[in-house]
Amino acid sequence: MFEGKPLAGQTAVITGGGTGLGRSMALRFAELGAKVAITSRKQENLEATLQEITALGGTGLAVGCDVRDYAQVEAMVKTVADQLGPIQILVNNAAGNFLAPSEMLSPNAFNSVVSIVLNGTFHCTSAVGKHMIANESGGRILNIVTTYAWMGSAFVLPSACAKAGVLAMTRSLAVEWGKYKIRVNAIAPGPFPTPGAWERLMPDKALEEEAKKRIPSGRFGEHIELANLASYLVSNYSDYINGECVVIDGGEWLMGGEFNHLTTLPWERLAELAAKIRPPKKS
Ligand code: HXC
Ligand code: NAP
Repeated sequence: MFEGKPLAGQTAVITGGGTGLGRSMALRFAELGAKVAITSRKQENLEATLQEITALGGTGLAVGCDVRDYAQVEAMVKTVADQLGPIQILVNNAAGNFLAPSEMLSPNAFNSVVSIVLNGTFHCTSAVGKHMIANESGGRILNIVTTYAWMGSAFVLPSACAKAGVLAMTRSLAVEWGKYKIRVNAIAPGPFPTPGAWERLMPDKALEEEAKKRIPSGRFGEHIELANLASYLVSNYSDYINGECVVIDGGEWLMGGEFNHLTTLPWERLAELAAKIRPPKKS
């Protein structure tokens, strides 16, 4: 998909970069030439992914940081800039989520997700954004949201509220920081198997099969597909894309369309229905 190393000379920060989709983006960015700082709470996840980056011949850095704490975020940004050079790319990927009936949520449960997803994204965007503005280097910020950021979703209320806020942040800052040559975009993934998401949202196989049936493409996403999209959006190839949210979900979110349930009927039954309503041919 890409020629050469389109991210060469760039320093990227990926939050939640030690596991799941964050790890996949980190490895792809490193292959494409970026110096990649990965950051999250658990050092053991970060170290394992850092070893993989190094094994690919890439340059990386593992920095422990809880994105809920602004002081830790500021310290993380300083460490990355000191060790890898000025930051041009930020991916806000860290998240928390779990399936729960909303009437069972405690205020602390709601807050635990919102403070990672919404406050954490603001903290990193603010600290890295100020760094980019001061360096007059421009930059690219990519926020990982979900397709329910605009639709809402039952049973993941804190995540739905927080991701909607991140989408609003994406569009607001794309306008405000355009003058600094900072582009702010988002990706809304449909289901991509990761241990973190699956253990909290897809706790049994039957649920997984039901989920697959709702996807027009008939399958879950592959990590490389998302990693390539992210690479494009943080590269100069997408220089005129700003304030956009790109959906990558095999068409899943469109399944609410009024007559889409007819796609499950056999072709003969559809032909029979179509014949019933077709006007007679004019002679
Ligand atoms: C109800 C729950 C709960 C659950 C935790 N809580 N899990 N309530 N159902 N399953 C409540 C706790 O009882 C507590 O409230 C409060 O939430 C905080 O819990 P802690 O365990 O102390 O929180 P913390 O250690 O900060 O961990 C945050 C976390 C955890 C979000 C709860 O799951 C986490 O660390 N997640 C990070 C990774 C992650 O979630 N990855 C999935 C992203 S996937 P009380 O009142 O008892 O104190 C994703 C995909 C979206 O976003 C789309 C898919 C298609
Ligand atoms: P994941 O592996 O659980 O990723 C979440 C990451 O966030 C972990 O690396 C975790 O690391 C980090 N994190 C959590 N709390 C943090 C905190 N307070 N400070 C710093 N880092 C923190 O799940 P994933 O599936 O790859 O999800 C990645 C992103 O994709 C998320 O934004 C998610 O909402 C989005 N997404 C995923 C799917 C999917 O199907 N997988 C679909 C739509 C959107 P530590 O535990 O080490 O802190």
